[in-house]
Amino acid sequence: MREEFLNVPPTDTDLLSPVETTDDAELATESGLRPRVLADFVGQAELKSHLRVILGAAAKRGDAVDHLLFAGPPGLGKTTLAYIIAAEMGSHLLVTSGPALERSGDLASILSKLEDGDVLFIDEIHRLPRPVEEVLYPAMEDFRIDIVLGKGPAARSIPLELARFTLVGATTRTGMITGPLRDRFGLVARLEFYDVGDLQAIVRRTARILDVEITVEGANEVACRARGTPRIANRLLRQVRDYAEVDRDGHVDAAVAADGLKFFGVDTLGLDKASRAVLEAVCKRFGGGPVGLSTLAIAVSEPAETVEDVYEPYLIQQGLLMRTPRGRVATPAAFEHLQIPSPAIGPPALFDDPDPSLTA
Ligand SMILES: Nc1ncnc2c1ncn2[C@@H]1O[C@H](COP(=O)(O)OP(=O)(O)OP(=O)(O)O)[C@@H](O)[C@H]1O
Ligand SMILES: [Mg+2]
Repeated sequence: MREEFLNVPPTDTDLLSPVETTDDAELATESGLRPRVLADFVGQAELKSHLRVILGAAAKRGDAVDHLLFAGPPGLGKTTLAYIIAAEMGSHLLVTSGPALERSGDLASILSKLEDGDVLFIDEIHRLPRPVEEVLYPAMEDFRIDIVLGKGPAARSIPLELARFTLVGATTRTGMITGPLRDRFGLVARLEFYDVGDLQAIVRRTARILDVEITVEGANEVACRARGTPRIANRLLRQVRDYAEVDRDGHVDAAVAADGLKFFGVDTLGLDKASRAVLEAVCKRFGGGPVGLSTLAIAVSEPAETVEDVYEPYLIQQGLLMRTPRGRVATPAAFEHLQIPSPAIGPPALFDDPDPSLTA
């Protein structure tokens, strides 16, 4: 096997290639939980059906799969899908990320090593430096790059033919993908938050893998608070398992799940301390808004990008927060959830309906 490439299905601890950047602890725990084939990937029915057709057609033609871009909030399965695509195609997978490719030469050397049918996964593709992105254009479209030798007037450009590879890109921010890059993908798919039924299936699958005894009601309790996100569902399950093992008999039913989640500071909507802090800042410190993103980020001591990508999407999806041209605004549902009086409803007006006996 070529050194930098993975024969899928891989384990994340195998990812020791020079271009690998995602070997952190959470990924290591996640590796055993990733579905390996499309059939095990829960939910996202429409996207799965599109992928089935695309993969099936490419296999029939004996050609590489068209380039694919997966967009959506963290933890919804973008990386998992990249692995699945390589596995389903029986191809090698090379993993890298936008920020790891600093110079166009970095990308050129990776591209030149690809073989027909290989899958190149670029995570956080919106963070590719511009000159590197420009190398991708002809690579994606014509399977060709131009290598520039020398500098100044003596510089020569040598065209290099590439193998027919498949690029899989992932991004948490579709808005930051440039038009020319976006247009070169055969499929641009947005992953949606998962519904409770799908999350319940994911929790039960993970429980089987981790050997956790959990009832359907227990799985449902975890699923309801997972903020539509498989990664969070898996994390909450691990917390509940720990709680059940230490404070109970290890068996997880609805009551144990609810107690465990409360113990770890997860509320009934699944908001953890950090998401609640964002909502509380808007409601309490800024009177419900509008408040600008950068001000809000400073108020909760988080980078603006994290507030925007990680915390806000679910708050917006739940109808707790709105993005308006003047800034972030909390909805009445947010005040209700935090159990604080809503300024929109406000205290009863004192003089709207004067007592006739006083004016007579
Ligand atoms: N559809 C799914 N079915 C089962 N498990 C899933 C699914 N989607 C994601 N997961 C689980 O959630 C975890 C996170 O998924 P993944 O790493 O693919 O998310 P991501 O979209 O790449 O996130 P990020 O933007 O942070 O990189 C994985 O460990 C995987 O086990
Ligand atoms: Mg990922």
